[in-house]
Amino acid sequence: MSRLKIAAGNWKMNKTFEEGLELAKSLSEKTSANGALMILGTPFIHLKSVCDALKDSDHIKVAAQNCSQEISGAYTGETSVDMIASVGAEYVILGHSERREYFKESDALLASKTDRVLAKGLIPIFCCGEPLSIREAGTHVAHVKAQLEGGLFHLDEDSFSKIVIAYEPIWAIGTGVTASPEQAQEMQKAIRDLLAEKYGKDVAEGTSILYGGSVKPGNAKELFSQPDVDGGLVGGASLKADDFAAIYGSF
Ligand code: PGA
Repeated sequence: MSRLKIAAGNWKMNKTFEEGLELAKSLSEKTSANGALMILGTPFIHLKSVCDALKDSDHIKVAAQNCSQEISGAYTGETSVDMIASVGAEYVILGHSERREYFKESDALLASKTDRVLAKGLIPIFCCGEPLSIREAGTHVAHVKAQLEGGLFHLDEDSFSKIVIAYEPIWAIGTGVTASPEQAQEMQKAIRDLLAEKYGKDVAEGTSILYGGSVKPGNAKELFSQPDVDGGLVGGASLKADDFAAIYGSF
């Protein structure tokens, strides 16, 4: 079964409004549709203008990097899925390791956010991945399994089939240390096997599983050519138009 290939950029807390808009426009100019999807995960401030700038693009979509689990109301500083959808973004990154670590987002909270995103008709890009200590202890598959069980496995088959998963080993994020193509493949195959066990082979085969952690123009092609690596979630290298365009061109 053919799965959607995706190069998703996660800008994190980078780029002023003007810089972000320029980056989005530049990516639109430097790339053309190649069958894969490009997704730009921008800060909330940038979402509407980036969506507007890309509204005629047939290969670039926009993601928020987080959302509230609440619908609306007295939640100072939060952003709802209604707000995100109202400006034209279609994806929401959930459970990034930085949000799990620095903002103490639990599996239970991420399960609620996932429900909220899906109920609005948006698509979650659900992140999972182990820290170095877990990798060294050899329990990384069990660790990721627990994250999937806690955040996603309450979903029924129909809802689950909309999810995009990003496997991001924490030891490879922003460190310049990339998981080897073999390590990424091994883990992402293990994730697909878990999905098959829970939801059946068809759903598992149809789910896009991205790899994240120091993806660069120089390693994207080899990573993306692994059978269970359907693209990447890219931090640092998504901040430069030439680099991210090259990564998109690696499919
Ligand atoms: P990196 O970040 O590409 O800078 O390692 C990836 C991520 O955190 O999504």
